Amino acid sequence: MPPDHDAVARMFGLDGRVAIVTGASSGLGAAVARTLAAAGARVGVVARRRDRLAGLAAEIGGLAVPCDLGEPERVRAVVTAVAEGLGPPEILVNAAGGMFTTERAESEPLDAVRRTVDLNLLAPFLLAQDAFPHMRDAGRGAIVNIASISGRVGVPGIPQASYAASKAALSGLTAELAVQWARHSIRVNTVAPGFFRSEITAPLYASGRAAEYLRRNTPLPKEGEADDVAGAVLWLAGDAGSYVTGQTIVVDGGWTAR
Ligand SMILES: NC(=O)c1ccc[n+]([C@@H]2O[C@H](COP(=O)([O-])OP(=O)(O)OC[C@H]3O[C@@H](n4cnc5c(N)ncnc54)[C@H](OP(=O)(O)O)[C@@H]3O)[C@@H](O)[C@H]2O)c1
Repeated sequence: MPPDHDAVARMFGLDGRVAIVTGASSGLGAAVARTLAAAGARVGVVARRRDRLAGLAAEIGGLAVPCDLGEPERVRAVVTAVAEGLGPPEILVNAAGGMFTTERAESEPLDAVRRTVDLNLLAPFLLAQDAFPHMRDAGRGAIVNIASISGRVGVPGIPQASYAASKAALSGLTAELAVQWARHSIRVNTVAPGFFRSEITAPLYASGRAAEYLRRNTPLPKEGEADDVAGAVLWLAGDAGSYVTGQTIVVDGGWTAR
């Protein structure tokens, strides 16, 4: 039998589906938005920087939805804006995230801890709540959260207690939502990246010593690229991942396998 290229295209195709991607103004989120659009989805792109969003939306034929996701009351406007502008969302990728302190755990300021939880955990939860009725009505949905290997293992020399806690909590939320919403064929998964060059890790890679430490401790010889994360998200967002739910998939070049 000849290879069935159409079957593979169907497994990874997202024609006719509306997706929301947060954190799409840079780094991993931007790569995910481009990949989902290339697979055929109409994508609502969310972050704070309007110019970046407008440029990306024009490039991929999507919709820019500027929002400060650190403000819970503003988060509530996002899903409605996408549903009105593009149609009911069936895919939600929570890639926006940040770190608000580099202090060691014993000295993390309370305000930084709260901001971390609001952006990395509360915003994805609220967006999932708001996307739920649309996915339930469609009879299917895929939510992919972007966590971190820091939610799974401590990283020597790079203090990040509240960040790690917020990302581990995202994996817990993922399993619980997956079980609660499975009856509606809504799948919920998390991708946990290792280390990738982006704005959030720029200070790390700027230091030659830190960059060498990352390279030395990553088994695969190549450096991770944003598309390595986007590929995992595409699998989980589309029909190729249709029997996978509640999982945290690690994309780290083998960092946590050591
Ligand atoms: N790079 C890595 O090595 C790595 C490793 C593990 C996990 N991650 C996770 O991967 C995700 C993407 O990170 P990245 O590496 O691509 O970093 P990045 O380039 O700094 O991207 C972060 C994104 O989040 C958005 N964002 C930050 N604060 C926001 C807010 N208050 N409201 C709305 N959007 C906000 C930023 O957009 P605006 O500034 O325009 O708002 C930006 O689009 C994050 O969740 C991060 O924790 C990254």
